[in-house]
Amino acid sequence: MENKMINVGVIGVGYWGGNLVRVFLSTGRSNVKYVSDLHEKNLNKIRMAYPDMIITKNYADILKDKQIDLVCIATPPESHFEIAKKCILAKKNILIEKPMTKTVKEGKVLIGLARKNKVQIFVDHTFVFSATVRKLKSIIDEGKIGGLLYFDSERINLGLLQKDVNVIWDLAPHDFSIFNYLFPKLNPESVQVFASKHKHPYLEDIAHIMIRYKNDFIMHIHVSWLSPVKIRKIIISGDKGMVWYDDIHPFEKIKIYDKGVHVNFNKETAFFPIYRDGDIITPKLNNYEPLNLEANHIIDCLHGSDNPVVDGNEGLKVVQLLEACDKAVSLKREVRWKGIFN
Ligand SMILES: NC(=O)c1ccc[n+]([C@@H]2O[C@H](COP(=O)([O-])OP(=O)(O)OC[C@H]3O[C@@H](n4cnc5c(N)ncnc54)[C@H](O)[C@@H]3O)[C@@H](O)[C@H]2O)c1
Repeated sequence: MENKMINVGVIGVGYWGGNLVRVFLSTGRSNVKYVSDLHEKNLNKIRMAYPDMIITKNYADILKDKQIDLVCIATPPESHFEIAKKCILAKKNILIEKPMTKTVKEGKVLIGLARKNKVQIFVDHTFVFSATVRKLKSIIDEGKIGGLLYFDSERINLGLLQKDVNVIWDLAPHDFSIFNYLFPKLNPESVQVFASKHKHPYLEDIAHIMIRYKNDFIMHIHVSWLSPVKIRKIIISGDKGMVWYDDIHPFEKIKIYDKGVHVNFNKETAFFPIYRDGDIITPKLNNYEPLNLEANHIIDCLHGSDNPVVDGNEGLKVVQLLEACDKAVSLKREVRWKGIFN
């Protein structure tokens, strides 16, 4: 496949699939040959924008075409497994939307089938390709915040209530994928979730997820479809510094705080905390579309010149965390593992 144009088919062109079509075309290194959707309205949008594209309601047409190198699956999560399985059996590389599958078992089946059929799985954890998350990673890897204390995320807004997944499955994959990218060696040891159903008839619409790692490093994620304001913020705290990430802010998305507290305490002396309140640095961020970097990275992987940053195993880790949350929700208590990713 050395440096040839990559031929792409996109299954599902609702809200997100249209972005995949646009971005793969914009790379100039791939050609979106087919688009498939069940709804005439969505297909018409594609017909109007890209008159040369082959449009089909039956995605099997894409799989029959030997020229297709990559199939993007941007359908609702409940259909990911069946469609992905057929693509892999037709020996197509796939880019599958988050969450990769609805169960760990399905995720493992796809990984096994991909290995057998010698195709690659890419999972669309878009944030991992953003300039902000890349910057956070370099800040952490360079030791600027020191030993880890906590990761605290808020991802809340009004809606969009989903039909087939609760708010955890809808929004938390973003935080889980960011966390796993920043801290690839960490293996979660327990999960506790406080969740409730207020407006959705049968799925949780608010949740607080708490995940514990070794050395008492805690991840807390608040996800909600019932917030009057849209908030997308993460604080990562270490013993040398703290980082604030506000994805809504137009330009100051990351701030590094030289703040902290040191407590001198022994039985003879009084309790004596010393606070550090130093500079705040706002690093400059590169300006690019994460999906564009991701599409180019996938093309590089298909040409054999790079290895996937988010492969099936990374997709599976997110599903393992989501399944662990389901268990904690249904048991209404903290659930412990020796390590969820074992
Ligand atoms: N990476 C991201 O940041 C991001 C953002 C939004 C959504 N997503 C993911 O993208 C996926 C789609 O979400 P959406 O918001 O675009 O949903 P959507 O409902 O707007 O679009 C899904 C489309 O898939 C089509 N579809 C369903 N079954 C099909 C089939 N068998 N063949 C062909 N088309 C079929 C539907 O007709 C619909 O148009 C989900 O997995 C979601 O989690 C990812």
